[in-house]
Order: sequence, then C-alpha cells, then structure tokens
Amino acid sequence: MESGILIMNIIIMILVTDKVNGAWNYRRFGPDVWSKTYPQCAGNSQSPINIKTACTIQKNFNPFNFTPNYNEEFNFTLSNDGHTMVVTYNGPKLLLNGADLNGNYQFVNFHLHWGPNENVGSEHQVNGIKYAGESHFVYEDFETHQIAVLAFLMKSQPYLINKKYKKLYHDEYLTTNQWYKYFDASQNLVQENDSVTIELNLSLLMGNNLVDFWRYNGSLTVPPCTENVIWTVFKQPIYVFDYEFETFRDDLLFESYRGPQSLHDRQIYRSFQYENLSTIPDQNCCSNIKSKGSFLFKGNNLIYFHLFYINFIMFFI
Ligand SMILES: *[C@@H]1O[C@H](CO)[C@@H](O)[C@H](O)[C@H]1NC(C)=O
Ligand SMILES: *[C@@H]1O[C@H](CO)[C@@H](O)[C@H](O)[C@H]1NC(C)=O
Ligand SMILES: *[C@@H]1O[C@H](CO)[C@@H](O)[C@H](O)[C@H]1NC(C)=O
Ligand SMILES: *[C@@H]1O[C@H](CO)[C@@H](O)[C@H](O)[C@H]1NC(C)=O
Ligand SMILES: *[C@@H]1O[C@H](CO)[C@@H](O)[C@H](O)[C@H]1NC(C)=O
Repeated sequence: MESGILIMNIIIMILVTDKVNGAWNYRRFGPDVWSKTYPQCAGNSQSPINIKTACTIQKNFNPFNFTPNYNEEFNFTLSNDGHTMVVTYNGPKLLLNGADLNGNYQFVNFHLHWGPNENVGSEHQVNGIKYAGESHFVYEDFETHQIAVLAFLMKSQPYLINKKYKKLYHDEYLTTNQWYKYFDASQNLVQENDSVTIELNLSLLMGNNLVDFWRYNGSLTVPPCTENVIWTVFKQPIYVFDYEFETFRDDLLFESYRGPQSLHDRQIYRSFQYENLSTIPDQNCCSNIKSKGSFLFKGNNLIYFHLFYINFIMFFI
C-alpha cells in the first residue's frame, strides 16, 4: 500500500517536473494544452490556419530572390530533435529576400510535419483539405529577428515511378527524388539527438513553382508559438511516396502537427490572379468580407453566375 503511494508520488513528480521543464509534444503535452505552459499559443495571430481560398485578396508580389548558392549542393546536418527531423547548415550563408519580405533573411533550418495516415499531417489546410505532410523552410532576419517561413504542402502518392512518369513530370520527379534522400537518411535516426550528414540541393527540394503562394502573418507552430512569422504557403504541393511517411509514423513519431487556429481579423493574400471557389459551400463563407478579385465559377456556381448576370442586365434596362 505504502509502496503504491510512493510509486504514485514518483509518477506525479515526473509529470510535474516534465511540465516545469517546459516539455511539450504531440501526445500528453500536445497542442491542446501548450497554452497552459506557453501563453502565446493562445494568441490571436496563431499558425497554422485553414486557407479559405474564396476569402483571399489578390496582391502583386516581387519574385523571391535567393542567393546563387541556393542551387548548389551542400553538406547539411540532419538530426532528430525529439519533435521532428530537422536539417541545419553551417556553410556559406544561404540568403533570401524579395516577395515583400523587407530585410535579408538567412536560412536557419528546414523540417517536416506529418500525421498518422495519408489524409492528415499538414499543418495548413486549403479549403479544409489536409495533406499528408508539410515542410517548413525557416529563415530569420538577424537584425530584426523577424522570421519568415516558406511552407510546402506534401502530397502522398502511391509508389509508381515508371518511365512515363519520369518523362511527363521530370521536374516533380527530381524533387521527389531529392526528398527521398531526406526520408532515407532519417530512417536511422530513431533516438533523440541522433544525426547524420547528407548532401542536399535546396533548390530541388523546394520544387519548381515559387511564384504561386498565399501570404499572411502568424506564429511559430510549436511552443513558444511566438507571433513574429511571415508565412508563405506555396500552392503547388510537393509529391512524396506513401511508404516514406509510413516509416516516419512507425519508427519515429506517430504524428507531428498542430491543427488550424482561428484566423481572427487577419487577411490572407494570394500572389496569383484567379482562384477557384471551393465545392464545399462552407469554405466560401468569409467572416471578413474584404475579399475581392476574380473567381472562376464551376458546377452549381455557374447557375448563380447566370442569375447574377441576368439581374445585372435587368438593372440596366
Ligand atoms: C560532404 O562531405 C563529404 C565527406 O566529408 C565529402 O566527401 C563531400 O565532398 C562533401 N560534399 C559537399 C557537397 O561538400
Ligand atoms: C539532446 O540535446 C539537447 C541539447 O544539447 C539536450 O538538452 C537533450 O537532453 C538531449 N537529449 C537526449 C535524449 O540526449
Ligand atoms: C540543384 O538543383 C537545381 C534545379 O532546381 C539545378 O539547376 C542545379 O544544377 C542543382 N545543383 C547541383 C549541384 O546539382
Ligand atoms: C504583417 O504585419 C505587418 C506589420 O504589422 C504589416 O505591415 C503587413 O502588411 C502584414 N502582412 C500581411 C500579409 O498581413
Ligand atoms: C480550377 O479547378 C480546375 C478543375 O478542378 C483546375 O483544372 C484548374 O486548374 C483550377 N484553376 C485554378 C486557377 O486553380
């Protein structure tokens, strides 16, 4: 009986100590309770968010501008930090500016978020649609300490590389293949702080469309959830293979993502002209009706468009 109480006390002490140390994870000390220890996680400008495409405003951005060495291959350090597989770099600075990012941003790391199956795992959602994962390339302006993150949605596809695929989707194939290096090297890093060196090409990892994206102001998606992040979420997903995520789920962490947070009064901008409306009506319902621009109508929306058009003509007759 007494030893039972003693064990209970020890367990409670371990739990309390864990909290005092600010431990967080995606399980017992998961996203729903982060704000108890990290109050900023309950702020009004949190990330990630669900991007309702109908509620975005079109804006013209200058192109992103990377230093030429972004196209080179370097030795990066890949390590298990207990929450994700993070890739850091110690060589010549990899710099980024443009696209309305005021200042000079330096590459800090990139890492991945994933979920228990291929229909969940991305942190950002687009019209409520979740992807299998999401990669974050983190940059910091070391003068202002402003952070900018370039986010890529990762789409899981069955393993079928054939000649036709290689030929048809040459660029996508090269990107998928580069990510394979990351997944392959990660497999062996099962213990926290395990690390390995791998040669990677950042340009290849980021794919070939850095022009179409959404932009908003938010926070880190992990504690302390600091609200100083300029988010760029690219429209074109990166393709990876189902089995690559499976080894992550089975051997590393079951899941590693935070769900979407309230938008509050923030505005999301898009860099491209036309945007489809969602086929899910709820997703086209904007709380801030500031959205404007051109939308492409399809399906039932076409009927509404015709009604609108008829009303429009009648008004002028
Ligand atoms: C990476 O490190 C290995 C081993 O030190 C070296 O052989 C290789 O040339 C390096 N690669 C690059 C791109 O620097
Ligand atoms: C991993 O490294 C960090 C920082 O050096 C350290 O605080 C932590 O205790 C290490 N974790 C393990 C399991 O060794
Ligand atoms: C890195 O990838 C880019 C294409 O995205 C390519 O132009 C460049 O040659 C690659 N660098 C190396 C060293 O393979
Ligand atoms: C982000 O916040 C800054 C500073 O308040 C503001 O100038 C900028 O327009 C905001 N960007 C977006 C995308 O809302
Ligand atoms: C709109 O949706 C159609 C069909 O789903 C797709 O082919 C087209 O590329 C989309 N247009 C834009 C601008 O996303």
